[in-house]
Amino acid sequence: MATSINKFTAASFHKAKSDGKKISMLTAYDYPMAKLLDEAGIDCILVGDSLGMVVLGYESTLQVTVDDMVHHCRAVARGTKKALVIADMPFLSYHISIEESIRNAGRLIQEGGASAVKLEGGSNVLDKIKAIIDAQIPVIGHLGLTPQSINMLGGYKVQGTKLEQVKKLIEEAELLQQAGVHAIVLECVPEKVAKLISEKLEIPTIGIGAGKYCDGQVLVTQDMLGIYSDFKPKFVKQYAQLGNIIHNACLQYISEVQEQQFPNAEHSFSIDDEVLSKLY
Ligand code: KIV
Repeated sequence: MATSINKFTAASFHKAKSDGKKISMLTAYDYPMAKLLDEAGIDCILVGDSLGMVVLGYESTLQVTVDDMVHHCRAVARGTKKALVIADMPFLSYHISIEESIRNAGRLIQEGGASAVKLEGGSNVLDKIKAIIDAQIPVIGHLGLTPQSINMLGGYKVQGTKLEQVKKLIEEAELLQQAGVHAIVLECVPEKVAKLISEKLEIPTIGIGAGKYCDGQVLVTQDMLGIYSDFKPKFVKQYAQLGNIIHNACLQYISEVQEQQFPNAEHSFSIDDEVLSKLY
């Protein structure tokens, strides 16, 4: 199948970094949002397992299943023409065995319509990452604050502030690069640590709470549009307050229904009076 020139593919990560072009990534979980992001020209759409919190209402990402991801990924893929669709591999979908990891990554590609997968961790899951790449599935790494490890990390905290942690982060990033990942998401790490890692790597880093020196940025769309109100991380910039707009629209709708101002003639269908007269 011919690929359009403007389509962002896994190979575009390397090119973007060598051309010095910053990569833009946002999350989506459904068709209309994917279409809006794609039409705006976003490079990558991540079907994140943040789905669990911002769409499904769970307290963490740990409850999300491969079936959930496949379902939402399909909708996103249907709404996307140019952006690279990346599917998050949810908790436990790449921890049990190499075979299960390849099968689950394969489902996200084959059934979900994604073109790459993202998974959290470094040396602890390196064998799974290599096997998925061997199966010809592009992988995006994820280091720093890895929300699937929330019970081990003890909270959503900045990572890589101590010397040993920084050394480990650099080591893990290099291991991921050697394994063949196409890019690495760096979440909640100090700006200067992210800068150091970005300069050391040939592959791009995509930051979230990792400062301006990363090779690209990602945000959860529900956060940056002001739709998700349960929790707002420090690193989120709200580009719109859609939550308020939706609230006010609903207030107006309720009032217009109660006052019989909606629907009016513009939103109603008519019938020829002659037809009606035959009923009586
Ligand atoms: O699940 C997600 O949305 C993510 C981003 C926060 C990078 O992993």
